[in-house]
Amino acid sequence: MHTLTVHSASGAYDVLVGDGVVAHLAEQLRAIAGGHVWRAVMITDEHVYARHGNRVFGEMGDTDARICTIPAGERSKNMHTVYDLITQMLEARCDRHTIVVAFGGGVVGDVAGFVAATYMRGIPYVHVPTTILAHDSSVGGKVGINHPLAKNVIGAFYPPRAVVYDTSFLHTLPDREVRSGLAEVIKHGLIADASFVEWCIAHMDALRACHREHMAKALHRGMAIKAGIVSADEREQGNRAVLNLGHTIGHALEAVSQYVRWTHGEAISIGMCGSARIAHAMGLCAWDVVTRTEEVLRAAHLPTTLPVDVATNDVIEAMQRDKKFHNGNAVFVLPVRIGSVTIVRNVPMHIVVRCLHELQGGQTA
Ligand SMILES: NC(=O)c1ccc[n+]([C@@H]2O[C@H](COP(=O)([O-])OP(=O)(O)OC[C@H]3O[C@@H](n4cnc5c(N)ncnc54)[C@H](O)[C@@H]3O)[C@@H](O)[C@H]2O)c1
Ligand SMILES: [Zn+2]
Repeated sequence: MHTLTVHSASGAYDVLVGDGVVAHLAEQLRAIAGGHVWRAVMITDEHVYARHGNRVFGEMGDTDARICTIPAGERSKNMHTVYDLITQMLEARCDRHTIVVAFGGGVVGDVAGFVAATYMRGIPYVHVPTTILAHDSSVGGKVGINHPLAKNVIGAFYPPRAVVYDTSFLHTLPDREVRSGLAEVIKHGLIADASFVEWCIAHMDALRACHREHMAKALHRGMAIKAGIVSADEREQGNRAVLNLGHTIGHALEAVSQYVRWTHGEAISIGMCGSARIAHAMGLCAWDVVTRTEEVLRAAHLPTTLPVDVATNDVIEAMQRDKKFHNGNAVFVLPVRIGSVTIVRNVPMHIVVRCLHELQGGQTA
C-alpha cells in the first residue's frame, strides 16, 4: 500500500492506494467521525454497484449505511441527479454528521462530492475510486456538475476527507475506460515528467492490459504529480491550471457532443494534440513535441484527430463559454517540450481555428 498526503486549506487528507486497501474504509470513516459512524450514504453508479457494491458495503463496518445509485455515465452530472440525491438523503434523515462515500469513477466522485459540498452547507465525504481516470479526479477537491451549454461550470472546491483507492476494482473496467483513464495518466507525464512519458510508451501494452505492477507504478506517479501541484495551489490561482492541458479543446468537444460522443479521456486526448499544434504554430515548441504527443496517445489507442463532421465553429463557441476563457481571451496550457508546459492567456483565435482544421486533416508540418 502507498499513502500520499494532499494539502488543502481545510486540512491535509490521505490517499491510500493499493490492492485490497478498501479493507481500511471503516477505520477511515471512524477517524472522520471521531468514533462510531451512525450514518453513511454510499453514492455509486449502477455499473459499479452491480460489480463491487457488496464488497464495499461489507467494508463499512456497523455503520447504518444507505445506498443511492445514479445512472452510469457523464450525463448524470446534472442538477436533477443532485436534487434527487438530496431528496433521498433528507428522506433517510441524513444530518450534518452523515458521511458520504463516493464509490465509483470521476462522475460519481464529482457528483457525490458536489452533493457533500452543498448538503446542509457541507458534510464530509470519502472517495473510493474505481476507474483509472479517477487517479486524477479523486485528488484536488474539484467537485461539480455540467450545464448543457458547458462542462463542469457548476461546482466547488471541496476536498474529500480521505481517498481509499483499491486498485483491485480496476480489473472489471471495460477496455474503453482503461484507455480513457490512460489519457490523464499520460497528461501528467506530458506536463511534468518526460521520462515517465517514455516509460509509458515502453510499457503501454502492459498498461492497456491493466497489468498490476505497471498500473500501480503509473497511478502512483500520476497521483504524486497531481498531489504536488494541487497542494501548492489548491484554488487554481496560478500553477494548478497546468493540469488543464488538453482541456480547453477537450471540454468544448464534450459539450458540443452533449457528453455522449467521447469519453472525457478521449476528448482531452484530441485536446492535447490540438494544444501541441497550437504551441508549435506559436513558436513555443519543436515539431517533434507534436509527433511525440500523438505517438504516446496513439500507443494507448486514443484518438489524435478531430472527425471531419465536427463543426469547428461550434467547438470555438463552446470554448468561449468555458471557465478557461478569460476577458475574451482563450487560455491554453501549451507544451514547450515533453514534460514541460506553459500557460498562455492570449492565444490568437485564428491560430486555434487553423489548428482545429489541421486536426481534422491530420496535416503535418
Ligand atoms: N474533479 C476533477 O478534478 C476531475 C478530473 C478529471 C476528470 N474529472 C471528471 O471525471 C469524469 C470522468 O470520470 P470516469 O472516466 O471515471 O467516468 P465514469 O465515472 O463515468 O466511469 C466510466 C464508466 O466506467 C464504469 N465503471 C466505473 N468503475 C468501474 C469498474 N471498476 N468496473 C466496471 N465499470 C466501471 C462506470 O459505470 C461508467 O460507465 C468526467 O466527468 C470528468 O470531468 C474530474
Ligand atoms: Zn480531465
